[in-house]
Amino acid sequence: MKVRILGSAAGGGFPQWNCNCHNCSGVRSGSLLATPRTQSSIAISMDGVGWILFNASPDLRSQLEAAPPLQPRTGMRDTGIRGIVLADSQIDHTTGILMLREGCPLQIYCTDMVAEDLSTGFPIFRMLESWDGGVVHHEIPTDGSSFTVDGIEGLQLTAIVLDGKAPPYSPHRHDPHRGDNVGYLVTDTLAGTSLLYAPGLGQMTPELVALMKTTDLVMVDGTFWCEDEMARAGVGSKLASQMGHLPQSGEDGMLAWLQTVERPRKMLIHINNTNPILIEDSPERAEVEAQGVEVAVDGLEFEVQAMRDDITIGGVSGDGTL
Ligand code: MLT
Ligand code: MN
Ligand code: ZN
Repeated sequence: MKVRILGSAAGGGFPQWNCNCHNCSGVRSGSLLATPRTQSSIAISMDGVGWILFNASPDLRSQLEAAPPLQPRTGMRDTGIRGIVLADSQIDHTTGILMLREGCPLQIYCTDMVAEDLSTGFPIFRMLESWDGGVVHHEIPTDGSSFTVDGIEGLQLTAIVLDGKAPPYSPHRHDPHRGDNVGYLVTDTLAGTSLLYAPGLGQMTPELVALMKTTDLVMVDGTFWCEDEMARAGVGSKLASQMGHLPQSGEDGMLAWLQTVERPRKMLIHINNTNPILIEDSPERAEVEAQGVEVAVDGLEFEVQAMRDDITIGGVSGDGTL
């Protein structure tokens, strides 16, 4: 399967329109070695023609303009997007659905909880009823069973239930439900490769680590470097954990967890504009790279490669043979 990173920043993008933090002002002025990024979304395809969109960011229009494979090929109105899969009902992951209104009916795959938020607190499903065919909601299972997206052959998806909060406008913001936040295990049934996409991840668990060890690629929450990053940057007081994000640094941080997972290619995505890993010559970025973890960047497109369990260390493979 092919992956295209449409947007690699967290909500607000990089730089954020109203932000004068060290990173945002530095990338704007060109005084920092850093690359601007749009808000979090990826697309996955088997044949490079039909694509599944994972999350629809407010920057979707410019992301599609920068992505020839997803653009119209034939007919007066056309798109490479066969279905839209949502991880949550956050603004940065769903507002782009409104930008796709000319293509209604839209085929949207999400949990019942996300569909409820998008019909109540942020009622874009209801609003789109005024466009031809509106939204067709495909309810996805949260019991570990897999599903497919109509029109996409060979890709099997499984929602992975994650800890996290529903957004501030959700009717159940203070009453967490199964399915408020999910990641996706995506399996290429022909090549046998798989990836885990989890742009919002509040906590790692032994189950999640066990799952990661079976995959070829993990693309996980890269929002914050440290727990009190917003306060340190002078832009807010919310802690990473209060926002449902596991920071990279620290004993129990994302990097420490990822170190226990050898097999897959590892990538951080959904990076907040305050995060020092965005600065390409920062010590934090060097630390991430030294641990073999990549920092996602917009426009990157690649084929998921099968990784080997029997990693060769010092000339001896994992099963002890030379
Ligand atoms: C988050 O991931 O925490 C949210 O998207 C933040 C936001 O954009 O409001
Ligand atoms: Mn977000
Ligand atoms: Zn900023």
